Amino acid sequence: MNINIGNFKIIITENYEEMSKKASDMVISQVIIKPDSNLGLATGGTPVGMYKEIIRNYELDRVDFSKVKSFNLDEYYPISRDNNQSYTYYMNTNLFNHINILKENIHIPNSETNNVIEECENYDKMMEDCGGIDLQILGIGNNGHIGFNEPDTYFEARTHLADLNKETIEANSRYFEKKEDVPKKALSMGIGSIMKAKKIVLLASGESKAKAVEKMIFGKIEPGVPASILQLHEDVIIILDKEAASLIINKK
Ligand code: F6R
Repeated sequence: MNINIGNFKIIITENYEEMSKKASDMVISQVIIKPDSNLGLATGGTPVGMYKEIIRNYELDRVDFSKVKSFNLDEYYPISRDNNQSYTYYMNTNLFNHINILKENIHIPNSETNNVIEECENYDKMMEDCGGIDLQILGIGNNGHIGFNEPDTYFEARTHLADLNKETIEANSRYFEKKEDVPKKALSMGIGSIMKAKKIVLLASGESKAKAVEKMIFGKIEPGVPASILQLHEDVIIILDKEAASLIINKK
């Protein structure tokens, strides 16, 4: 089912697999139309199925990533890039090791830097210098965060070192043995960088996301719900499974 609400084009799918396939189709068509696309990429549980589907299509020779540049939204800080909890490790194992993207075209905030301010400035500059993000993939936190832009009293525009809030640490603890092991900080693209993307595709799956999705679409635009700012972007496609869409289906 497709519905439009405000600027949002919303696709409601039957399940996680269909959501993942639709999202993968969007990435692949972007790269076919513009082979030197700059892709903004997300980690977390939600896009794993999309990455699998992209790899499947790559193996069938349907898409070529040799000219693509990628910019990840965020990375824990500090963390060794080899640590299997780092987003560098996640991206290598879930996507980059399986497609023909060039190593030098992959950008992930440097979790090993001693100079956070310089790293953040460089990250924004690199995105600007290569013409900005063509297609940004986003997930959404249970608390309405995008990237690691946590609910706050203002929108943080640029790449920055973010303190992860309690809900995020709780949600991310599912990947760690102990909650104490979850990193408390992350380098994250800012809201400004995300909003400058030419096109945004946001994915959400499962009932735990339903409230955040409802607030993003129908709520007031406010930094307490960072994703609500997407109401002001002119090209956002939201792909949901039925559970994530449960609170908006009858509201339209
Ligand atoms: C990850 C990111 C986060 C996640 C969000 C949802 O790079 O930027 O905003 O998209 O926390 O995470 P999952 O998909 O694990 O529910």
